[in-house]
Amino acid sequence: MMRAIVRDEYGTPDVIALREIDEPTPGDDEVSIRVHASSVNPADWIFLTGRPYPVRLVSGLVRPKGRVLGMDVAGRVQSVGRNVTRFRPGDEVFGEIASAYAEQVCAHQDRIAIKPANLTFEQAAAVPVAAMTALQGLRDAARIRPGHHVLINGASGGVGTFAVQIAKSLGAEITAVCSGGSADMVRSIGADHVVDYGRDDFTRTSVRYDAILDLVGSAPLSDCRRVLSPTGTYVSSVGRLGWSLKAFFASLVWRDRVRVLASSPNAADLAYLRTLIEAGEVTPVIERRYPLSDVAEALRRQGEGHARGKSVITV
Ligand SMILES: NC(=O)c1ccc[n+]([C@@H]2O[C@H](COP(=O)([O-])OP(=O)(O)OC[C@H]3O[C@@H](n4cnc5c(N)ncnc54)[C@H](OP(=O)(O)O)[C@@H]3O)[C@@H](O)[C@H]2O)c1
Repeated sequence: MMRAIVRDEYGTPDVIALREIDEPTPGDDEVSIRVHASSVNPADWIFLTGRPYPVRLVSGLVRPKGRVLGMDVAGRVQSVGRNVTRFRPGDEVFGEIASAYAEQVCAHQDRIAIKPANLTFEQAAAVPVAAMTALQGLRDAARIRPGHHVLINGASGGVGTFAVQIAKSLGAEITAVCSGGSADMVRSIGADHVVDYGRDDFTRTSVRYDAILDLVGSAPLSDCRRVLSPTGTYVSSVGRLGWSLKAFFASLVWRDRVRVLASSPNAADLAYLRTLIEAGEVTPVIERRYPLSDVAEALRRQGEGHARGKSVITV
């Protein structure tokens, strides 16, 4: 048996509880991981509440299919399935999985990688979902090159704090949009310019950006396009259904200029991030740590939409 954060219905953080459940058994291509830490993502809130409703087509129409929430994991391999060649018991790993708010998880070997040597388990658990989203948004969707000027809207949050550092590592000039209280923090991790969204509108400027990575969806798409350079790209990673649909239809009209990001977890990008982290170019920004028993409180904080970096769950 193991302890896990379990829920049997959709709802607020009040529906989850710390309970004893059976330990999962690894399949042939899976490893079993003793979890040391996890972290909180906006998607946890979506799967917790089952809203917007179309998400239930995937997560279970009436009741949630997955009883345990959580997507990020860092821990130690305990045992491996018979087809697993890349990991051995004792390896320290990190990755994006399902059902991470538990003492023990199983993960497909292609979803995890060896943990950066210079990070604690808590720091490593902050990385997978947020940093892979930032990396795929900047490198693959926006195709950032050295010297490009990129604007990151929502730079102080989980994805944003990785995006600022990854954009720097790609040689970009960075304008970060965040609240005034986070300005010093985003400057300290590499932002060249900061726009305080409480005082200024980032679309009212004569600057033209080579890329916009939008993590908030606070300005009309037409205004965002107006501040792009003639070859610039707008990338939406906004997790709101209405915004994603708007951006998707715009991407059909302005191909290559408007893109909607759906990040895909993979071991190669985790290994790329490990290289950046071990080189000291990227360091997770952690706002708070919560014990497994306080996941509900961590989710409430996430639901407020004003995270500063990542919230980590220690197991
Ligand atoms: N496409 C994918 O696969 C994928 C993967 C992961 C996440 N996402 C989505 O990406 C988005 C960001 O995720 P996250 O993990 O970074 O969320 P987060 O940690 O909750 O951060 C959101 C940030 O936005 C800032 N913010 C709020 N209102 C703002 C405004 N008007 N202008 C500028 N900044 C504002 C907040 O800080 P302050 O207000 O305090 O400044 C906060 O730092 C979410 O919508 C999420 O669903 C998508």
